[in-house]
Amino acid sequence: MFILADNVTIIEVGPRDGLQNESKHVHTDDKQVFINALQRAGIKEMELTSFVSPKWVPQMADAEAIVKNTEPMGRQFVLAPNAKGAELALAAGARSVAVFVGVSDSFNKKNINRTTDESIEALLPVFSRLKEEGIFIRACISTAFYCPYEGKIEPKKVVDLCKKFVDMGADELSVADTIGKANPKQSYMLFNLLKKELPNTLLTAHFHDTRKMAIANIYAALQAGISRFDSSAGGLGGCPFAPGATGNVATEDVVNMLDTLGIETGIDVKKVCEAVDLIAPHVSGPIETGMYRLFKNSQL
Ligand code: HMG
Ligand code: MG
Repeated sequence: MFILADNVTIIEVGPRDGLQNESKHVHTDDKQVFINALQRAGIKEMELTSFVSPKWVPQMADAEAIVKNTEPMGRQFVLAPNAKGAELALAAGARSVAVFVGVSDSFNKKNINRTTDESIEALLPVFSRLKEEGIFIRACISTAFYCPYEGKIEPKKVVDLCKKFVDMGADELSVADTIGKANPKQSYMLFNLLKKELPNTLLTAHFHDTRKMAIANIYAALQAGISRFDSSAGGLGGCPFAPGATGNVATEDVVNMLDTLGIETGIDVKKVCEAVDLIAPHVSGPIETGMYRLFKNSQL
């Protein structure tokens, strides 16, 4: 019998990962209404937006306004790929910054135009600067299971990259199945290994749900001792530079599973669905998560 955590922290990534690849332009005010509703649902940690090139990701061009207009409760992360992004994040008043690097060079080049090693090199002074300012740094480790260009990734490469970030001073690692291809055995094995190799590091799992294995992967990671999960309200999401990837695992479905397991999150599923209902008219795809469907049928 496995001992699962009593409490789990959900890091809501809907406003960032959920909307970055949305083909319909989402107005800043509509994003803000979504963010405020997610906070009302009990979300304490959230990825709000990204300070990335608006030429690469036009949907995140309003990052400064989003940070300035969001109540700074809990950790409100912004993504920054480089020194320029970090400076813009600091100037806007962000206190929690997420950097992101892929384990595989091919994905990393498509995503941030550098190899993995070049990115690390460029991030060294960024870490020093953010540390000087007392910023909490989250390092998002992409393509930790599969790369859309290189295929299967060896766990050792993931561990080595994670260790580099811990040595640099990362406060948290969010380890991602970018294209949603991992299975529960792989999830258990990798997170079990990371817990052993990095026992003092805050570890988070980030699953995309392309093949509908994300909930099973979360349960497997829980069994490996993970108690922090990224998820996106409405199951929105995907990286524009990871072909074949679809949305993140849905916050409302993850919280429901945890509720039924007796694991506390502090998040109200119905209120998450209310937040989903507010963003639904502004996104292109239909939202078909289990709990949102029940909400729409007045069965919640
Ligand atoms: P580059 O073209 O190599 O950048 O792109 P550069 O340094 O050569 O600069 C070119 C221009 O971009 C210059 O402007 C810079 O000022 C500007 P110009 O002189 O031409 O007018 N620039 C910036 N502008 C705003 N903010 C910045 C910035 N940096 C440079 N931070 C760059 C390199 C990193 C900028 C680009 O590749 C980029 O923005 N990539 C972002 C990609 C992205 O956002 N991907 C999605 C997030 S990651 C993800 O979703 C995965 C995750 O969810 C986990 C998982 O699921 O795997 C986290
Ligand atoms: Mg992602």
